[in-house]
Amino acid sequence: MQNPFIYGGLVFGDHFADRQTELSDLATEMSNMSKVFLVSPRRIGKTCLLKNLQKNLREDGFLTVYIDLYKAPTLRHFTEQYAKAVVEVVEGKLERMVKAVPRILPGLRPKLDPNPDGTVSFSVEYIAREKEVFQILTEVLEYPERASIRKKKRFVVIIDEFSDIAKYDGTDVEKAIRAVVQFHQRVGYIFSGSKRSVIRDMVKDKRRAFYRMGRIMELTPIRRDLFIAFIESWFARGEYDLSENVVDLILEKGRDIPYNIQRIAHNIWEKASESKKAGNASVDKAIETIVNQESMNYEALWDGLSQKQRELLIGLAEDDPATVFSKDFTERWRLAVSSIQASLRALENKGIVEKEKQGKYRFDDEFFRLWIAR
Ligand SMILES: Nc1ncnc2c1ncn2[C@@H]1O[C@H](COP(=O)(O)OP(=O)(O)O)[C@@H](O)[C@H]1O
Ligand SMILES: [Mg+2]
Repeated sequence: MQNPFIYGGLVFGDHFADRQTELSDLATEMSNMSKVFLVSPRRIGKTCLLKNLQKNLREDGFLTVYIDLYKAPTLRHFTEQYAKAVVEVVEGKLERMVKAVPRILPGLRPKLDPNPDGTVSFSVEYIAREKEVFQILTEVLEYPERASIRKKKRFVVIIDEFSDIAKYDGTDVEKAIRAVVQFHQRVGYIFSGSKRSVIRDMVKDKRRAFYRMGRIMELTPIRRDLFIAFIESWFARGEYDLSENVVDLILEKGRDIPYNIQRIAHNIWEKASESKKAGNASVDKAIETIVNQESMNYEALWDGLSQKQRELLIGLAEDDPATVFSKDFTERWRLAVSSIQASLRALENKGIVEKEKQGKYRFDDEFFRLWIAR
């Protein structure tokens, strides 16, 4: 039997644990053509949730597209990818896609690239002048509403890693998006992001374009009892014999982050594939293996940090989650508040440290924390 614990990619069907409440909440919101901002730290499962939602919506007759800002370094790329996604889902067939682009979207043209297996890849290319990008983007953003009317189907647009929108020089893009989507009556939108504070500012700040445009839904970890049942049932199907607390320990050491939990479980499954036995020590061994597997990356990451940043991380690795500006923390680790501030900003930007509620900070990657603590 193949290792059922998948980490780092998308999980569907039997490999996707729980999230029933979230799926049905989001489906309801989308039936009402709402706009929802989905937020959580990285690796909690936003992308997996959205892809599973998309699958369900498609089965229910919605047209849906998914666009990942992470994969679109500039606004031109974003425009191209948005157009490609929408044209594909609306037109379906290659010939129709190719014809639709110039007809409906001036400034863009279809591009066909042959694959080695004889098939052809379709994409959309931006050919207008740079300064027309807002105009072209607006056309593209209008497309789902119009297509929805023409096709008599409801439409859902999902934009992942939306908190990175500032990389396109921020507020003008937000305004352009709002100006179009606020009038859409047949399209639901989900804007998903890993930077909670960025999304909150967008939606809660009166001066910003997305002010009160939709509700913020915070994605929390998968319920423990359900995640435990999921892991236990897979080990049972593989005929593994686990000692009593193993699965609890996996969740605890993985800090309830699905990625961590899947990776630890994957490792235990692998190591015990002969003996079919795992105890509490197996959890520590699995974590040690993972930290070793990542050590090259962590070394490179560490090399890129300043001395002050490293000092802060060493303290945080021990106290995580820590109230880093507290007297207790600064004195214990002999750090000046001013240097902590500067380091934190850099570390947050690099995605190494993230702010929790109540002024606490924690590592984004638990295995990196353990690597430092070691
Ligand atoms: N519902 C789930 N069931 C099982 N594993 C999950 C689930 N959601 C996420 N994961 C695991 O966590 C990993 C990271 O999830 P992902 O959706 O990429 O997180 P995010 O988008 O929040 O960064 C996935 O590769 C998968 O291994
Ligand atoms: Mg994601």
